[in-house]
Amino acid sequence: AAPLRLGIAGLGTVGIGVVKIVQRHAEMLAARSGRPVEITAVSARDRTKNRDADLSAYAWETDPVALATRADVDVFVELMGGHDGPAKAATEAALRAGKDVVTANKALLAHHGQALAELAESLGRTIRYEAAVAGGIPVIKTLTEGLAGNGIRRVMGVMNGTCNYILTRMEDAGLPYDTVFEEARQLGYLEADPNLDVGGIDAGHKLAILASIAFGTQVSFDNVVLEGIGRISIDDIRRAGDMGYKIKLLGVAQMTGRGLEQRMTPCLVPATSPLGQLTGGTNMVVLEGDSVGQIVLRGAGAGEGPTASAVMGDVMDLARGMRLPVFGQPADSLARPTPAATSIA
Ligand code: NAP
Ligand code: HSE
Repeated sequence: AAPLRLGIAGLGTVGIGVVKIVQRHAEMLAARSGRPVEITAVSARDRTKNRDADLSAYAWETDPVALATRADVDVFVELMGGHDGPAKAATEAALRAGKDVVTANKALLAHHGQALAELAESLGRTIRYEAAVAGGIPVIKTLTEGLAGNGIRRVMGVMNGTCNYILTRMEDAGLPYDTVFEEARQLGYLEADPNLDVGGIDAGHKLAILASIAFGTQVSFDNVVLEGIGRISIDDIRRAGDMGYKIKLLGVAQMTGRGLEQRMTPCLVPATSPLGQLTGGTNMVVLEGDSVGQIVLRGAGAGEGPTASAVMGDVMDLARGMRLPVFGQPADSLARPTPAATSIA
């Protein structure tokens, strides 16, 4: 069978992780999908940078749009990040050139998901983004495929590993926020703009994407009630502990009689609950369906291996010819959500 040819834009943590999986598991990927999965071209800003993989067999493009539109690329794999600029331009160019797109970019989808999904579907293409929400946890597949026969009542969870790391480290070591924030920076956990993490924005992007799939509504990031973790003190954590609670940056999305409620805010959760016991950089997503009841998914929300694992799951779906609607139902049928009033108890 004809190979599925990938063009990968972005050779950082995730991009190099994907390259390594394609190289390490070439035979397994071909056996599982019935066709070879190959990389034909790659792109990053700096060609001279030393990277942790052999890229010599691949064509190089400095311009991601040029990569996205190459005739020898079937799937454009966008792993650069950023919600405007090259990620958006190259994704649009890839779709217009007849390619499917795989991305890990939650910011892109939270800001432009509706327009990109409409563009993709009008052209008979799709965009896959398992890695964009909760890293290695297959939550998008679970919602769009496994739970496709359920009315979803609620989606909630801890979706930013950096915040969970900071909060659990403050608690375990009794260290103040500023000290642990600096530690997280040294460890390379923080996004280039740390406010994306500690301001709750990154987690809010992820929640908005899940809410769209769960409730059949257009992605509505502007209506996520956001509060970060920057004002949480060690005393807050201690007092919560004394009462049997932990503080988590918790996302909740549910459809109420007043409209779609989406909030990503620090919350008290019982210390003995699965969410309360979640430590370090791990993520947890809790899904509630009207037939299945509650499902809890837990795992690594970031890092080279886990995130590349999710990207490859999407690549394999495309290699097998699966082309689902971007948000689980055709983009032009998604309702505009009525945001719930923000006065939430
Ligand atoms: P990263 O390590 O910063 O790598 C970004 C890559 O994109 C670099 O190779 C960079 O090139 C390239 N790039 C940036 N701007 C470019 C441009 N204008 N033209 C061409 N190449 C450009 O980022 P990452 O951590 O791999 O994240 C990639 C995406 O995955 C982001 O959307 C992120 O939110 C998402 N994600 C990451 C994780 C994670 O654990 N890291 C988890 C889930 C989702 P140079 O190397 O030459 O600078
Ligand atoms: N900054 C994100 C986190 C990366 O800490 O969860 C994965 O999306």
